[in-house]
Amino acid sequence: MGDPALSHTELLSSAEGVVMIIGAPDSGKTTLARMLVDTALQGGRTVAYIDSDLACTTVGPPTCVGLKWLRSPADADDLAQADDLRFVGSIRPDRFILQQVAGVASLVDSVRAEADLIVVDTSGTVSGVVGQRLKYHKAELVRPDTVWAVQRGGELEPLVGLLRRFLSTNVITVPANRGGLPMSPEERMDMRAARFAAAFPAPLQRWRVLPTVFAPSLPAGFDLVRLHRMIVGVHDRQGRCLCLGMLEYEDVLRVITSGNQGMAGLQIGSVRLDPKTFHTTSVRLNELMFGLG
Ligand SMILES: Nc1ncnc2c1ncn2[C@@H]1O[C@H](COP(=O)(O)OP(=O)(O)O)[C@@H](O)[C@H]1O
Ligand SMILES: [Mg+2]
Repeated sequence: MGDPALSHTELLSSAEGVVMIIGAPDSGKTTLARMLVDTALQGGRTVAYIDSDLACTTVGPPTCVGLKWLRSPADADDLAQADDLRFVGSIRPDRFILQQVAGVASLVDSVRAEADLIVVDTSGTVSGVVGQRLKYHKAELVRPDTVWAVQRGGELEPLVGLLRRFLSTNVITVPANRGGLPMSPEERMDMRAARFAAAFPAPLQRWRVLPTVFAPSLPAGFDLVRLHRMIVGVHDRQGRCLCLGMLEYEDVLRVITSGNQGMAGLQIGSVRLDPKTFHTTSVRLNELMFGLG
């Protein structure tokens, strides 16, 4: 442990309030988050687990920030099934800082009063301008009681320094996982494809949609065929994402989803999905909207 006064067991059982876990890809953030969740559940606490990793996702489908309520150890068996979602619309954390930060902050706010412990698991984007801004603004709004920095070498030092200097964040460093092989890009892609497939379980439904239901709204004269195969967030009227949808244009525009209960509008993402392989292609939304893509 970075803090020699705390053993591993003490660290896990001392956690309270909001714990945000940061670290490079494959450093062991999610494993640590699971251990923390298990410890808290064994202690009879109610835990809200918020997963803000968009690509290698634990709770909910890729492209979303997910929340899972855990009230008993059995709830941890079904982490993938989210209780609430915020749609970001991309699997690339570097491009969508605003949506990620807003999504995480909004989920944390929604559980603050009821949860005994809130665990915020994050993506591996921790370095450079983007990584520092993303984590800094997340911490600024989430106001974690503790940040656990899962550290290999010196890769987290700039970010940790920044959190301490500007936000007086209490950061505890934890040594990174040194066992196990990191996932290859192909393994990550396959895992993501499986998670996208799970977001579209049979029987799927196809609903005709009007061009007026989108956010951002479509420009005048927009050719709807450009939305073919685009991922959307199916939204209610309370800012919640109910599930993912995929648009289909064949003479008319339809959304393919596993349900439409409470559907009020569709947030357009920045990903096109192949319905057979569930592989993705990134799309720049302003190029798509204004005819350059
Ligand atoms: N302490 C550890 N010892 C050995 N292997 C570990 C440990 N922590 C994590 N792993 C393995 O490392 C890989 C990445 O762990 P994960 O927790 O998913 O990382 P992250 O969430 O930071 O990307 C997984 O295969 C996991 O089983
Ligand atoms: Mg993880």
